[in-house]
Amino acid sequence: MKTVLITGCSSGYGLATARHFHAMGWNVIATMRRPNVNLLPQSERMRVIPLDVTSQDSIVSALHAAGPIDVLVNNAGIGVVGAFEATSLAIAREVFDTNTFGVMSMMQAVIPQFRERKAGVIVNVTSSTTLASFPLAGIYTASKTAIEGLSGSVAHELGAFDIRIKLVEPGYGPGTRFTENGGQRMQGLIPDAYKPFAEPIFAAFANPGPVTSETDVAEVVWQAANDTTDRLHFAAGADAVALANAKRH
Ligand SMILES: NC(=O)c1ccc[n+]([C@@H]2O[C@H](COP(=O)([O-])OP(=O)(O)OC[C@H]3O[C@@H](n4cnc5c(N)ncnc54)[C@H](OP(=O)(O)O)[C@@H]3O)[C@@H](O)[C@H]2O)c1
Repeated sequence: MKTVLITGCSSGYGLATARHFHAMGWNVIATMRRPNVNLLPQSERMRVIPLDVTSQDSIVSALHAAGPIDVLVNNAGIGVVGAFEATSLAIAREVFDTNTFGVMSMMQAVIPQFRERKAGVIVNVTSSTTLASFPLAGIYTASKTAIEGLSGSVAHELGAFDIRIKLVEPGYGPGTRFTENGGQRMQGLIPDAYKPFAEPIFAAFANPGPVTSETDVAEVVWQAANDTTDRLHFAAGADAVALANAKRH
């Protein structure tokens, strides 16, 4: 029986992914900054342990408590929407600490055990913002695009040890807590000069076309974790798949 460790399982895509892997018969280590066992099925195949990906101590403790794992899913992430000019580098660093350096730290923490075993899969959840340019999402896109570039390169050296790396690129998911969790961070990031540009964009967000559900992402993470080819990119959700197809043509 295989074991997956997933970051950011308290809500949204991570929570759905933990439920899905459990339903598929895996051992699941669902990690959260503030563990809440009531969110997930009570089962001997389900463990909830604390993990903040911005803390090296927390990463070391979580991986020690987890024991050997077969798959790491780097799902934890935070967002920011706003005019680049108005977004402080302190906010940019906060976003990169979780979305970029948090993922790098998790990867470096699990690679030794995967390399010694000559097996293992790392699934990095990025975003459809890497598939097309979205307005007012510069810092967030940069944090996720860094992981896309890193993963593509590192896939070569890890392939030498039979470690696979996968990118899951979800589309816009209004059902998660992503926007709510970023609300405080986004205060004041649309200065008056940008309002005429930003207002129609926010109005369009209130009425999106195809979107991505938590289940869409869980199923694609599952597919990516079980994919034995060298395929790197896995768009998740109707909107992301449409962008990925448009990019290919
Ligand atoms: N929803 C979208 O539109 C969308 C689109 C494309 C990609 N994504 C990506 O999908 C992933 C999941 O997002 P979501 O939409 O499911 O949002 P969400 O509901 O806000 O879930 C994000 C999860 O990450 C956790 N997290 C945040 N900072 C963390 C840290 N330092 N250490 C550990 N966990 C941390 C949150 O935990 P707390 O409860 O402790 O805050 C939460 O469990 C993210 O990587 C996001 O960038 C989302």
